[in-house]
Amino acid sequence: MEQQQWATVVEAATRAPSIHNTQPWRFTATADQLDVFLDRARALPVLDPTQRQQVISCGIAVEFAVVALAAAGVLSEVELLTDDADPDHLATVRVIGAIVPTDEDAALAAAIGHRHTVRDPFEPRIVPAGLLDRLQAEAAAFGTWFKPVTRSEEEVATVFLIDRAEEMEQGDPAYLAELQRWVRTDPGAVDGVPVGAVPAGDPHGRPSNWSIRDFVVGTRGHDAGAPVDPDAPPPDVERPTVVLMGTDGDDRYAWLQAGRALGRVLLVATADGVAASPLTQALDWPATRTRMRSRLSLVGHPQMLLRMGYPREGTAAGSVSGRRPVGEVLTVSPAG
Ligand SMILES: Cc1cc2nc3c(=O)[nH]c(=O)nc-3n(C[C@H](O)[C@H](O)[C@H](O)COP(=O)(O)O)c2cc1C
Repeated sequence: MEQQQWATVVEAATRAPSIHNTQPWRFTATADQLDVFLDRARALPVLDPTQRQQVISCGIAVEFAVVALAAAGVLSEVELLTDDADPDHLATVRVIGAIVPTDEDAALAAAIGHRHTVRDPFEPRIVPAGLLDRLQAEAAAFGTWFKPVTRSEEEVATVFLIDRAEEMEQGDPAYLAELQRWVRTDPGAVDGVPVGAVPAGDPHGRPSNWSIRDFVVGTRGHDAGAPVDPDAPPPDVERPTVVLMGTDGDDRYAWLQAGRALGRVLLVATADGVAASPLTQALDWPATRTRMRSRLSLVGHPQMLLRMGYPREGTAAGSVSGRRPVGEVLTVSPAG
């Protein structure tokens, strides 16, 4: 593969979602392989001290690279954590042949450019069971379970744990200081979460029973939204599909597999018109994460909580987040 081809693949890989849009990755390429590394300079020591969520983010980037290669007619295979001396060397994507891309390959690659985290309320329309079954099968191919939160007692427990975690976070100055370092007001920012990607006002005032992460510190519980009109009709409350994804293990290998599964899930969903936003507050903290396991009788470890649904017209447009230029994250060796 030529340098320019790798740049195109890495551009697609970097469209991956990442926790706080930290983009915690580095890539090196030679003629026939792409290596993916965790970039510790972009760590979130308060929110993600074990780097679990950043490794998941890198796993998504790995899968986006595989999808971009397939659409370009390149068959690849992925090996994880091959270097015992360097645990930050997360994955090797090796070119193993040529293929004729299918329509599905093209659709998934196109979805890389369309996908954005959508935090605005979704349409009051459920995600069909057939699509959820398909997403479950996609995740299972990476040893990752995909479980819609359906029974009302599971939903109550999950909503409670998210709210509890959000409360803990809002009371933790170190968490808030770290979050603020990744919130961006400059529309040209190449990383971090743009304020425009987060619905304005008090997250509790949204027409939803699910609390999104409060990025704009101090809005929760304050009178930051529009004044409430007592005569207004009840808002159209969204009923998103919320799914938990998880793995049997809880190490870097499991996190990478969960990330790859999530990458496929997001692209298949996007290609079908379904958007998502992660709600990972309850998984940030060991206490709420452990309680999630017991309250929902989960076998294994929850890695991702995802809210899914159909975006309302016009809501995705304001949520485009920046990316660092490829030249900052990719080194192509002279042999390549
Ligand atoms: C592991 C992980 C955890 C995330 N957790 C949250 C979250 O709790 N709340 C939220 O609003 N977004 C969350 N996100 C979404 C990121 O903020 C988003 O991917 C990033 O800002 C880039 O934006 P994009 O997805 O629109 O490209 C998470 C993403 C990943 C990969």
